[in-house]
Amino acid sequence: MKPKVYIAKPVPKEVEDLIARHCDYKMWRKDEPIPESELLKEIADVEGLMTPKGIITKEFLEKAPNLKIVSNIAVGYDGFDISAMKERNIIGTHTPFVLDDAVADLVFGLILNTARRINEFDQYVKNSEWNHHLDSEAYFGKDVHHATLGIIGLGRIGEKIVKRAKLGFDMNVIYHNTSRKYDLESKYSIDYREMNDVLKEADFVVLMLPLKESTYHIMGSAEFGMMKEDAVFINCSRGKVVDEEALIDALQNNQIRAAGLDVFEVEPIDKDNPLLKMKNVITLPHIGSCTRDARFDMAMKAAENLVTGLTGKTPPNVVKELQ
Ligand code: GLV
Ligand code: GLV
Repeated sequence: MKPKVYIAKPVPKEVEDLIARHCDYKMWRKDEPIPESELLKEIADVEGLMTPKGIITKEFLEKAPNLKIVSNIAVGYDGFDISAMKERNIIGTHTPFVLDDAVADLVFGLILNTARRINEFDQYVKNSEWNHHLDSEAYFGKDVHHATLGIIGLGRIGEKIVKRAKLGFDMNVIYHNTSRKYDLESKYSIDYREMNDVLKEADFVVLMLPLKESTYHIMGSAEFGMMKEDAVFINCSRGKVVDEEALIDALQNNQIRAAGLDVFEVEPIDKDNPLLKMKNVITLPHIGSCTRDARFDMAMKAAENLVTGLTGKTPPNVVKELQ
């Protein structure tokens, strides 16, 4: 008998076919996210769950007595209650590698956009404000090439950002990470710094940290206060690693130049969030991995993890804390 699984979002046909060969499955087929009540019903008798945003709590697991594996269709797994999953011996997997380039591309999109004020000037032209040659301080942007990029959190995605910065834009790169990356330091000629020194020296501060207890609100008012007045802040990781109030204050008080944000403390963002009114802030709806190829590869990887886990083998991408 094939194991029963539930797929909590529509996946491409090829991915569905792979799952169908090995599992007795049901799938949520609508574009809008599955309502929690529906999901709780569907997991009552399954051994496997594949989900775009696993919020796996103790209470959730109680509703799924047969569950053996949660395959997250995402790289971040801050929704996993690791100790609750350990207690039940649940396998938890995620989708590293396949989205790294897509996210790094978007980080560069935000760097270029904030520095050269692309969205702002697009609006300017479309609002018919363009009636003279722009050549004064009020219109100047900031150079990306040869500037100093500071990365906080140098993991897989961080490395892809470094590659773009060094090879494409001749940038000077400094980084902070819980462990030194000596191989990358010599491969790309980048330099390690304490976090405060990254903040003080960088023209662009890029945060690329997973959300955990130790990274929650790691950027607060003291940290924004250390950044250069002309520096740009970029976050494509998780909203809650930033104290958003402190970021808003820093922007309102002109303590930093601009921000490029793909993630927020509350998603979707609140309509009244002051960030939405700021010309020097780019706000994106958490689209770091939202390309056709990346999303296809993520779904396929998640399916491979799911199927492997259910056949009694160790899936390729078990999250670190559950290995
Ligand atoms: C997206 O944010 C992911 O974690 O994959
Ligand atoms: C993301 O998960 C990273 O390791 O950078």
